[in-house]
Amino acid sequence: MTLWGGAFSEPTDDDLRALNDSFRYDRRMAQQDINGSMAYALAMAGAGVLTRDEAETLVGGLTQVAEEFDSGTFAVKPDDEDVHTAVERRLGEIVGDVAGKLHTGRSRNDQVATDFRLWVMDAIDSLTGKLRAVQAALVEQAEQHTETLMAGWTHVQPAQPITVAHWLLSMFWPLERDIDRLRDARRRCAVSPLGSGALAGTPYALDREELAKALGFSGISQNSLDAVSDRDFTVEFLSCVALVGVHLSRLGEDLVLFSNPAFGYVTLADRYSTGSSLMPQKRNADSMELTRGTAGRLIGYWVGLMTTLKGLPTGYNKDLQEDKEAVFAGFDSLSLVLPVAAAVVRTLTIHPDKLRAALVPEMLATDLAEYLVKRGLPFRQAHHVAGRAVRLARERSIPFDQIPLADLQALSPLIAEDVAQVFDYAASAASRAADGGTAPDAVRRQLEQARHALTQ
Ligand code: ARG
Repeated sequence: MTLWGGAFSEPTDDDLRALNDSFRYDRRMAQQDINGSMAYALAMAGAGVLTRDEAETLVGGLTQVAEEFDSGTFAVKPDDEDVHTAVERRLGEIVGDVAGKLHTGRSRNDQVATDFRLWVMDAIDSLTGKLRAVQAALVEQAEQHTETLMAGWTHVQPAQPITVAHWLLSMFWPLERDIDRLRDARRRCAVSPLGSGALAGTPYALDREELAKALGFSGISQNSLDAVSDRDFTVEFLSCVALVGVHLSRLGEDLVLFSNPAFGYVTLADRYSTGSSLMPQKRNADSMELTRGTAGRLIGYWVGLMTTLKGLPTGYNKDLQEDKEAVFAGFDSLSLVLPVAAAVVRTLTIHPDKLRAALVPEMLATDLAEYLVKRGLPFRQAHHVAGRAVRLARERSIPFDQIPLADLQALSPLIAEDVAQVFDYAASAASRAADGGTAPDAVRRQLEQARHALTQ
């Protein structure tokens, strides 16, 4: 028997049931559903709707249902449309008719919104822990490479020398903002819809605040219709998830390139690389390609859910059931990617010699301009002089740092013998020592900030 069959004269068609039933995926909310029901039973006793005995019987029965889910012995029946139906059906088998009192004043509409908010709150906590592990791995590597130099790029073209720690930590801060966004989303998610009923609220003297606190919410919804109609908390969650995916795709792309033998800047640990079934020499960064690739699907879940919500009329609509698979899949995919990303970073071998070999003297052209600025030339003119020096070196096919002094002096009389100090990669990096810069000293301060963030 379904929960709602009273007014119907024929059973639901099997094909519709296959489409309508959500137990196969929403069983993941069993724990939240049962906790919600336990707290609700006690609150209804508080409101004088159930007796203490009845509430305790319900809680006892629900404890057993929870154990069955935990131990994997919960036996699903054909009429278990969704997790809410299944739990109530099983509760009835255990405690008898009193189970029928549990749903008094409650609807699956406020129930599902409650369960799912609790589930998303847990999911945020879980992802935060996994994001922290990626950040910790970045910090750990960065600590080893505050002095190691590499070519920083813009447009994938050699730009200026930077320290490897600086590059690594450039991945740390986006993840820090992601954690902050998740924390912020969690704050808005932690609002209890329970007591909203199907749409209009409850006629019982429920202490909704108390009930919310008992479940771990920080407050209650102010409008029962809004509480059952909206799923903005799932959209926020998936948008955070998608953005984490996008951030990790940058790490993925960098490491795919850097591990290519043509660059040879890094080697991924064997256990995070894969081979080819045909070409014995191949060593593929599949871990990072999948990290990069997953982002596309994560964006898709967010777009799909936004599209589902757009234009829905006020009130609960079954379209809203679509939120589960998107959120579960987004959570699962990101939960797979994050530990791999953390481990790849932690076990990465960085090759300072190869990174050094990729530094080209032209990357110091900006430093030549800065040298002239120090001698009083306005930056625009200094930029032009340094540009002419680049051209001269290219025309003569000599390295930028091998231009004879006399030729440089012909470009600007401000250039003296001490221009030699410009052609030093380490000095170039070290000069960018203001907070947030790539200089080893600045990066050590940055590392301290990062380590502090990890303790928050
Ligand atoms: N399985 C449903 C969902 O996920 C629960 C709510 C059903 N409510 C209803 N009025 N049919 O949305």
